[in-house]
Amino acid sequence: MPEADNKQAKQFHPEIPQPTHGFFAKGAGALDWGMQHRLSRIFRPETGKVVMLAIDHGYFQGPTTGLERVDLNIVPLLEQTDALMLTRGILRSTIPPTYPRGIVMRCSGGPSILKELSNEELAVDVEDAIRMNVAAMTLQVFVGGEHETRTIHNMTRLVDAGLRYGIPVMAVTAVGRELVRDAKYLRLACRICAELGTQMVKTYYCDEDFETVTASCPVPIVMAGGKKLPELDALTMAYNAIQGGAAGVDMGRNIFQSDAPMAMLQAIRKIVHEGYTPKEAMEVYAELKNEQAREKREPVGIG
Ligand code: 5RP
Repeated sequence: MPEADNKQAKQFHPEIPQPTHGFFAKGAGALDWGMQHRLSRIFRPETGKVVMLAIDHGYFQGPTTGLERVDLNIVPLLEQTDALMLTRGILRSTIPPTYPRGIVMRCSGGPSILKELSNEELAVDVEDAIRMNVAAMTLQVFVGGEHETRTIHNMTRLVDAGLRYGIPVMAVTAVGRELVRDAKYLRLACRICAELGTQMVKTYYCDEDFETVTASCPVPIVMAGGKKLPELDALTMAYNAIQGGAAGVDMGRNIFQSDAPMAMLQAIRKIVHEGYTPKEAMEVYAELKNEQAREKREPVGIG
């Protein structure tokens, strides 16, 4: 017999209006709950920013320096990441399914470093992305490249598939050795990706007018790392990008090819989430590097 309805005992709280929640990520206020939930697995809701580790290099260049053994070199770094950009092959074979944060899965591929890089196709079915419970799908877009239209078409198909199932897409722009990566080019490339529907864009930092690239892109821009730089230069680049309006970083070689990858990741976190200056972050890096080297020499608990 159902319990008699006792209005006094029920907790209706008619005097408290239900809050309407906004959403913190740029341009994402009108997205569905599933998309917003996935974006929250990438960008930290407390700061609106992300420290993403990119380890997808093998999809076109094989066992890149620092990624020869993802199990040994990368898995220990995962605890300091907000999101991980990688291929489904490495995800399935090597990443523990207990990883609690966002997986950003590389969904384009085709040419190796031996061939024309812009000649890419979609290389993952959206069903597999769903199966792996990814937080976003990602692909390269070669604006101005030989196969520009094909890569843009790859992107719009991936965006359509993502919209069908609530999975955001991150376009990666400005890849290519011969490109002039100035603000004019970056504005063009990033804006095209956002106009055609991606929910975020990964692109390179430029020294002049980077803030015009972020301002004219209606979705979050995540800074790409690029080739290995001295640690202070990489920290300075990350700092400048964040100050210039980037919603975080997605770096690979500048982390896993560093002398102390864990310390580098921790220093970058300080810049992205706590606003540390490059000098302050460099001090954190140096201190943690020494500490971690000492721990390696004298493991705790052995004595
Ligand atoms: C650019 C990519 C890469 O595969 C990767 O993410 C590059 O990372 P980094 O340049 O920081 O080493 O998306 O092609």
